[in-house]
Amino acid sequence: MATRRQLETSILLRNGEVDDLDAVMAIMNSAFSPSFGEAWTRSQCAGIMPMSGVSMTIAEDDQGPAGFSLVRAVEDEAELLLLAVASHAQRRGIGQALLDDFIDAARRRGARKLHLEVRDGNPAFGLYYSAGFVPAGRRRNYYHGPEGQSFDAVTLMLAD
Ligand SMILES: CC(C)(COP(=O)(O)OP(=O)(O)OC[C@H]1O[C@@H](n2cnc3c(N)ncnc32)[C@H](O)[C@@H]1OP(=O)(O)O)[C@@H](O)C(=O)NCCC(=O)NCCS
Repeated sequence: MATRRQLETSILLRNGEVDDLDAVMAIMNSAFSPSFGEAWTRSQCAGIMPMSGVSMTIAEDDQGPAGFSLVRAVEDEAELLLLAVASHAQRRGIGQALLDDFIDAARRRGARKLHLEVRDGNPAFGLYYSAGFVPAGRRRNYYHGPEGQSFDAVTLMLAD
């Protein structure tokens, strides 16, 4: 695992399994605001995990699972489907470590195009831009908040 800066806490990255879904959903619900409709449901996560090319990584600190990523790899592409860090553990380098791990693992298996979608206005843009991702497309009104609000999804790409 490559990290671009010193982590404030020591963290372990390990593969995630279906047994981790309780912890994953706790992180999901802590990390994502319900205002934007970005969080996945437990059944969405459970449904995608057995699919070919899909993998989950759990980041554990000394308190247990604190963040996760969900990735799908297809031929020479790799997609970061989800990246989340529990609110109490944010801004300590865990999201960066998970993103670095996604990039490193994708490059190791020969992926040439790395991509992800993020809600327009999500503060995570800074994290992705600093890793070299650039905007490559926009889906209008892709995310929906609980009161009928709509938000665009921006596709970010990292080419080799
Ligand atoms: C995005 C997210 C995963 C970042 O995780 P994190 O562990 O807090 O990120 P890091 O501590 O590794 O941050 C690395 C850098 O990214 C940038 N960054 C991260 N969160 C940021 C925020 N809320 N606002 C501005 N910049 C931010 C900063 O440059 C930061 O470096 P710094 O802390 O030295 O300034 C986390 O905020 C999160 O779970 N958000 C909710 C879920 C989400 O929106 N996921 C992304 C879409 S799938």
